[in-house]
Amino acid sequence: MSAVTVRVPAKVNLQLGVGPLRDDGYHDLVNVFHAVSLFDEVTARPAERLEIRVEAAPHSRVAVGGVPTGGDNLAAKAARAVAARLGTEPRVALRIRKAIPVAGGMAGGSADAAAALVACARLWDDRERPALSRDDLVEIGADLGSDVPFAVLGGTAVGTGRGERLTPALTRGVFHWVFATADGGLSTPAVYGECDRIRLAEGRPPERAEVSEALMTALATGDAKALGAALTNDLQPAALSLRPSLRRTLDAGRDLGAIGALVSGSGPTCAFLAETDEDAAGLAEALDGAGVAAQVVRASGPVPGATVI
Ligand code: C5P
Repeated sequence: MSAVTVRVPAKVNLQLGVGPLRDDGYHDLVNVFHAVSLFDEVTARPAERLEIRVEAAPHSRVAVGGVPTGGDNLAAKAARAVAARLGTEPRVALRIRKAIPVAGGMAGGSADAAAALVACARLWDDRERPALSRDDLVEIGADLGSDVPFAVLGGTAVGTGRGERLTPALTRGVFHWVFATADGGLSTPAVYGECDRIRLAEGRPPERAEVSEALMTALATGDAKALGAALTNDLQPAALSLRPSLRRTLDAGRDLGAIGALVSGSGPTCAFLAETDEDAAGLAEALDGAGVAAQVVRASGPVPGATVI
């Protein structure tokens, strides 16, 4: 096989319930992931040695400068993990075309790792060896990062543990989103750290997070207004504390008619829900004009996870 290209979606967290800090440095979560139609593409080609090239997707204005191109790129780790599992060498060139914001709270790095898992597994599947199943790739992905298993599967799913144990959620219809990106990313560990700091300062010991029944019902019935009202993110106060300008972005989206608004994951991307595709188009245009975002992009969800194209 000469080349395999995999398309992989970004995610937004519909509920990010952050529980206590565990001994291993992670937090117990209730993490409702939702894959949206904003995609990175990873192409894998046979090569002498593992190589990584990262570029912005055509027509996207993603700043790719901060993405590592060496062995510590998460997609490179994914290639090595698949090679190790298949008992082969990671002789592959990976070209990563990014439309998902870098360090934006939309799991772009995890998405690229998931795409690399799927691409390398296909590239090195020479039929003599047993192919790796999607479950195998989910399992390998969990060792790479908490959000990688979801990027393999896509759709809408409830993640527990550190977010890697997934149960698909029942959904109906399509949800229409507008995303406001920000210049400069936020570090995920720094945002979790700030969340711990705020809770300690306020004397509020974290409780175990529970799945929101209102959210699950809204998803199952396809009720966008109810979904908008049920969106929650326990990391939002921490992201706002580290990046106070996001408050203006969230307020602008609400004032311009979004039926739900929240910081996506650890931020700084803000996510806005609209009732219809038309509403999303109007909201995106108005937000763009308000000058509260680096870039405004529309997407819908749920969409499938990493897919060979
Ligand atoms: O799993 P991943 O490498 O993507 O996590 C990045 C960082 O986010 C972790 O090092 C940790 O600081 C934080 N994190 C956490 N609890 C989780 C997931 C991530 O504290 N459940």
